Amino acid sequence: MRVLLAYFSRTGENYCNGGRRDLRIGNTEVLADLIAERLNCAVHRIAATEAYSDDYDDTVARNVREQDDDARPGIANPLDSVDGYDTILLASPIWNLRPPMIMQTFATSYDFTGKTVHPVTTYAMSGLGTTPQDYAKSCRGARIGDGLAVRGEEVRSAGAAAVEAWLRRRASSTEAAPGCADGELVPLFSVVDRLPAATALRPGCRVSPRGPSGGRWRCRCGRLALEMAGRAA
Ligand SMILES: Cc1cc2nc3c(=O)[nH]c(=O)nc-3n(C[C@H](O)[C@H](O)[C@H](O)COP(=O)(O)O)c2cc1C
Repeated sequence: MRVLLAYFSRTGENYCNGGRRDLRIGNTEVLADLIAERLNCAVHRIAATEAYSDDYDDTVARNVREQDDDARPGIANPLDSVDGYDTILLASPIWNLRPPMIMQTFATSYDFTGKTVHPVTTYAMSGLGTTPQDYAKSCRGARIGDGLAVRGEEVRSAGAAAVEAWLRRRASSTEAAPGCADGELVPLFSVVDRLPAATALRPGCRVSPRGPSGGRWRCRCGRLALEMAGRAA
């Protein structure tokens, strides 16, 4: 499984149902944990070199400045590369309709050629905002896949169901399958991380049911998707 979940989340005072609430764990971190519990993925928490304030209004003001300046706020713990991953989930809150500018720092730091980026957000009202378009511009070479947006106020109560529904949608969708060579399939959103030889290398292969934990596979060239109901027999 070559999936990376990279996320940014802020603790402290935040917007909540029209008021304010102190969050010890940020909403996006809660969502990231729910995803990581259900998906075999590497997880990277993006930390700011200059930490964002716990104060909501200060953070709003800093974000406006960073957006106006098209800033690239520093990342304290940058990854060397994203070369080892085929699929990258970029998770963050929505700040003034966009992902925080530190996500642009991450997005513009790597070559995403041949990779699929899925935007993931928590928000108050804006859903994904302009996140898919922002990543389409900033993640060089990436294909932008389906996004997941969960309202911050609901992430603790309804986040797990939202994640599971999203993963199921991902697992059951299919792409054009114009006959790639056998042996080139790689897992995409699957808990089955090793594809047994021969049995599962062609659409229509026989698989033994294993609940909802099957998966979806695509060719390294990105062309072939193979839907599996469970682990290959
Ligand atoms: C600086 C700032 C700007 C925000 N702007 C928006 C916005 O434009 N639209 C929206 O729906 N929510 C907005 N929110 C709410 C957050 O997106 C939401 O509370 C999110 O779940 C916070 O995630 P976190 O706890 O991981 O930081 C904003 C919050 C902050 C702190």
